[in-house]
Formats: sequence, C-alpha cells, structure tokens
Amino acid sequence: MAGELSPIDKAKFVAAKRAADLVETGMRVGLGTGSTAAWLVRCLGERVADEGLRFRGVPTSSRTANLARDCGIDVVSLDEARWLDITIDGADEFDDELQLIKGGGGALLQEKIVATASDQMVVIADIGKEVESLGAFPLPCEVIPFGWQTTKALVEETLIQMDVLGRNTTLRMNGDAPYVTDEGNYILDCHLKRIGDPRQLGMVLNQMPGVVENGLFVDICDKVIIGFGDGRVETRDINEGTVEEDRLDFVESDNLFSDIAD
Ligand code: A5P
Repeated sequence: MAGELSPIDKAKFVAAKRAADLVETGMRVGLGTGSTAAWLVRCLGERVADEGLRFRGVPTSSRTANLARDCGIDVVSLDEARWLDITIDGADEFDDELQLIKGGGGALLQEKIVATASDQMVVIADIGKEVESLGAFPLPCEVIPFGWQTTKALVEETLIQMDVLGRNTTLRMNGDAPYVTDEGNYILDCHLKRIGDPRQLGMVLNQMPGVVENGLFVDICDKVIIGFGDGRVETRDINEGTVEEDRLDFVESDNLFSDIAD
C-alpha cells in the first residue's frame, strides 16, 4: 500500500506515474531499467489492464523484459520496432543541461542504444538525482572481458589528462565473480568525483578498443520528470525551456504497491 512506501519510493513512483501518461496507443516505447523504471512498467501495465492501452515496449534489459511481460505489455525487440516514439528511463545523476550518468543498474549499453533510437528520451528521477556537476556517482564503463585489466590501466592513465577530480576505477563485482552485463561484458566503475567536460570524456573513453560504451548521456535526454516525496512532480523540457509543476495524489492500489520495486 502507498502508506508503506518511503519518501524516495514515493518520489520515484510519482515521476513514473506522470511519465506513464505520455504513452499513447500505437506508440513504440523504450522501457528503461532500474527501480524508477520498474515503477513506470508497473504503471503502464495498469493502464494496459484498466484502459486498454495498446503499445509495443522495447526493454533495455532482461530484467525489464521479464517485468514488462508480467505486466501484460507487448514486448518487442529494437530490431522489430526499428525506431521509437519515446524512451522513458531512470538516471543515476542529471545536471541542468540534462546530461546524465547512467548504468548504476548495469544496463547502460542497451539503454543508450534504445534512447538514441527514439524521437524523445524522458528521464524519470527523484530529486536526489539532481547535481550541479556530474561525477559524484561512479561513472560506469562497459568493457570487453578480454584484457580487461589492461583496459582498466589504460582508462586510468587516460583519466590523468581529463578534467576530473579522481581516476580510480574498480571492477564491478557480483559476489566473488565479476558482474556480467546482458551482453556478456564487464563494468568498470570510474570514481571521478567531478566531471568537468562530460562530452569530451565520453568521446575519449569510447575511443579505447576495450571500451564498449560509457554511462555518460550527452545530448540524448529531452525532458526530466522529477518526483518529490510529498507527491509533487516537476517537468523540465530542455528543448522548450519550460518547467511545469504538478502534484499527484497517491491512490492505493494493491496491484501496484503489493510488490515494491527493487
Ligand atoms: C540502469 O542501468 C541505470 O541506468 C538506471 O537507470 C539508473 O541506475 C537509475 O536507477 P534507479 O531508478 O534504480 O535509481
């Protein structure tokens, strides 16, 4: 029930609920990964069941694919959909230019491919994700397992010349073994503290042969929907330069709240 949600989960929920209203019948929709995106999938599943909303969803991870199917959403691959009307996803950090760090959940590669193949990318986040400069959250970098230690050393060496405050990187672990992405790769988390030039850093990292993709999203996000623990929602549109405020009432729904997102 809604009363059992923490303020941060309420904030994630209201952002997701507002974003779910953007989806219309007939659309092709990129479905993000993470706890906020899981709320979105649940809200969309509720609209499918209650209103007969019909759309095709392209998930950005096996986790999201499973949840979407469980919620009654028509799941298709990106190759089937080809191009998307909208992608809605969470973020680990966003700044005032709507530059993002993503990949805390390990799905950054599919997330970036799907978001880039969309007319519009909308980020849903609680207010705690807003930062003045990116980089307090470790930047995830997806690397090929072959020679990953050499790639790690090369990344750290390259970071010396970059406008960042830290250059330590750590291999993401899953218990005693390396964390493995849906594509079979590893993730290096780069502890940079502050990223002065996200665009330049993203391009330099992607030039290294062992690096598949990094979690910096620059010029990809169009809109952020920010949720607050008291039900307030703020929508910022970077293209229109608009800010809209709104408030959502929590409606107790056993379907949505009996299974609180991860
Ligand atoms: C998944 O790989 C990430 O990019 C998530 O979108 C991001 O980590 C936000 O996750 P939460 O919504 O769980 O904070």
